[in-house]
Amino acid sequence: MFSFKRIAFASLNALIALSEAGPIRIRADQVAKAGDAKFDYIVVGGGTAGLTIAARLAETASVAVVEAGGYYQIDYGNVSVVPLNALIAADVIDPTTNFPRRPYIDWELLTEPQVNANNRVLHYAQGKTLGGSSALNTMSYTRSSRSAYQRWADQVGDSSYTFNNLLPFYKKSVRLTPPNLAKRNAANATPEYDPRSFGNGGPLDVSWNNWVDPTLTWLAKALQAMGLAINPKGWSAGDLSGGSWTPGTIDPAHATRESSQTSFLEYALANNNNLKVYHHSLVSKILFKNKRATGVSVSTNGTAVYTLSAKKEVILSAGVFHSPQLLMVSGIGPKATLQALQIPVISDLPGVGQNLRDPISIGVARFVNTPAAQSIVSNPALKPEALRQYYEEAAGPYSSVAGYISFDRLPADLRATLPAETQAKLAAMPSDQPELQYIAGAIWTGTNLIGSTSATISNVFSKGSVTISSANISSQPIIDLGWFSDPADGDVLVAAIKRLRQAWATEPAQTISAGPEARPGVAADTDEELLAYIKSSANMMWHASSTCAMGKKKDKNAVVDSEAKVFGVKGLRVVDMSILPFSLPGQPQSTVYALAEKIADAIKKGN
Ligand SMILES: Cc1cc2nc3c(=O)[nH]c(=O)nc-3n(C[C@H](O)[C@H](O)[C@H](O)COP(=O)(O)OP(=O)(O)OC[C@H]3O[C@@H](n4cnc5c(N)ncnc54)[C@H](O)[C@@H]3O)c2cc1C
Ligand SMILES: *[C@@H]1O[C@H](CO)[C@@H](O)[C@H](O)[C@H]1NC(C)=O
Ligand SMILES: *[C@@H]1O[C@H](CO)[C@@H](O)[C@H](O)[C@H]1NC(C)=O
Ligand SMILES: *[C@@H]1O[C@H](CO)[C@@H](O)[C@H](O)[C@H]1NC(C)=O
Repeated sequence: MFSFKRIAFASLNALIALSEAGPIRIRADQVAKAGDAKFDYIVVGGGTAGLTIAARLAETASVAVVEAGGYYQIDYGNVSVVPLNALIAADVIDPTTNFPRRPYIDWELLTEPQVNANNRVLHYAQGKTLGGSSALNTMSYTRSSRSAYQRWADQVGDSSYTFNNLLPFYKKSVRLTPPNLAKRNAANATPEYDPRSFGNGGPLDVSWNNWVDPTLTWLAKALQAMGLAINPKGWSAGDLSGGSWTPGTIDPAHATRESSQTSFLEYALANNNNLKVYHHSLVSKILFKNKRATGVSVSTNGTAVYTLSAKKEVILSAGVFHSPQLLMVSGIGPKATLQALQIPVISDLPGVGQNLRDPISIGVARFVNTPAAQSIVSNPALKPEALRQYYEEAAGPYSSVAGYISFDRLPADLRATLPAETQAKLAAMPSDQPELQYIAGAIWTGTNLIGSTSATISNVFSKGSVTISSANISSQPIIDLGWFSDPADGDVLVAAIKRLRQAWATEPAQTISAGPEARPGVAADTDEELLAYIKSSANMMWHASSTCAMGKKKDKNAVVDSEAKVFGVKGLRVVDMSILPFSLPGQPQSTVYALAEKIADAIKKGN
């Protein structure tokens, strides 16, 4: 039922009436006051990984979470709560330099000009709020493939990263709700999945949309018609091949976004008094004594800097761009970079900020004649019923965001057209690992509906970097995504466009097509033309990783060991997207939650 839920925003000592945001249960005594204090663990960053590990550690110890942002439900309203809004209203994810400035939810990061992508400067949205990027993402929940986990285990020399050994931590985080077929009301979009790969006791709701976008059912048929059959186990059982209706991080009872804040933070605050939240609080430095991390310097909404001390450990979960930045400004990183800025070197780790992997994506789109969520809610005659369905039934187009995904390996004939070096790089990857991920979408232009199929590379060969130009945390990190620094990525995307054109040539796609190809458009035909289109139009998927890569001690680029401990110091771990050793095929948030569960478990066992 539609109701105004009352929430307490304790730091403002005010009750704010907020519709549809869902309850935020935070008591005044759980919001920390600025000033020196001591805890067992200090977690830097209240994002996806940070709130997960903080909640688990708070089961048995005292924990402070320090987060630069506040509550997205208050700061960004229903934009960040209603599933469809992640696609149509979250304007801040605009990748161009004209993105709307929203400093209360986004870090406003800009990249260096991408020299192999027409010198484009890109805006890389990252959540600055409790929940972090789990409050801005598009909620798809998929895991990776068995062979990718095996590669991870091999590369870091620790068999606890194989799929079978990680699975308990994926399961632990999640509470799965089976699809509500009555609400979905789409016989040809019944999700297939393996219930054994899910648990149902974790704080994080995972469920399937309570509504199916009709355009996506046609695009799903098109992808199936080109040979990518339904995967009977879905995307959580270790096999990324074929196609599947993807579940999302959505609370199915209310059809609201599930973030690390609505899941793990709520769980912790409801269960004990061990967790204190410092929001609107910026960590400027990690403090060390004799190479042991002893705490952090913090300022809350402009207060004088104070110290939070860690009796046991500091855990850095500031995300893929800010974790390496915080390490460097605190004295951990490439020696030359630190010395040039007069930062005393605590641990000379050349890999900090290196190895950045950013999966690149390109789309093929056509105008279509089918209905879709975005066209329905944009139609003044249909919108009231869509709102009624959403607020009264937690269903209808507004409840829908995660869609249909297929994974692909290039067929032999197409593979044979690639340059020999690119073929060799692909051949070096495990043979069951996907090379491309296709996502079906439907976008309302304001006057027409576009059916879109995007392709994202699963194995990123290009490397980028994060560095600093100032010892001041308030200066932005210098981000080079390194797009197409390895030409293999461009070659694979050229092949991807050809594959997606095959999908659009199938009978189901032809049935709904209304006119010629809209993007790239028929004018782009030769490989050179396609590559030029890709360089000018490719987009990020916001899945960047590996800037503080996990590895073996003897690997000079490794930043943390397989228990996430930073090399060269004691009492400091990094737990977030930055420690993935490479870019995992699939979507990353499932792994961020599982990794935080795994390291929390290791810490509790005394490892
Ligand atoms: C637009 C978008 C769409 C996406 N779609 C999907 C999807 O559909 N499926 C999927 O699986 N993944 C998706 N992702 C990726 C996924 O959400 C991220 O990989 C994941 O959330 C990263 O988690 P993290 O813990 O590493 O970082 P974050 O969740 O970003 O957390 C980092 C936190 O640290 C805080 N912080 C940083 N510096 C400081 C400091 N100095 N002091 C205090 N706090 C600090 C930040 O404010 C933030 O809250 C998407 C991401 C985006 C941005
Ligand atoms: C979200 O809020 C806006 C502005 O308050 C309102 O116009 C819109 O109808 C709301 N959307 C949904 C889906 O609730
Ligand atoms: C931050 O400080 C300003 C000025 O003192 C105040 O108006 C504002 O409400 C504070 N914001 C938060 C989130 O505490
Ligand atoms: C860091 O930069 C911010 C923003 O420019 C500024 O307000 C602050 O004083 C600087 N801090 C130091 C220690 O120089």
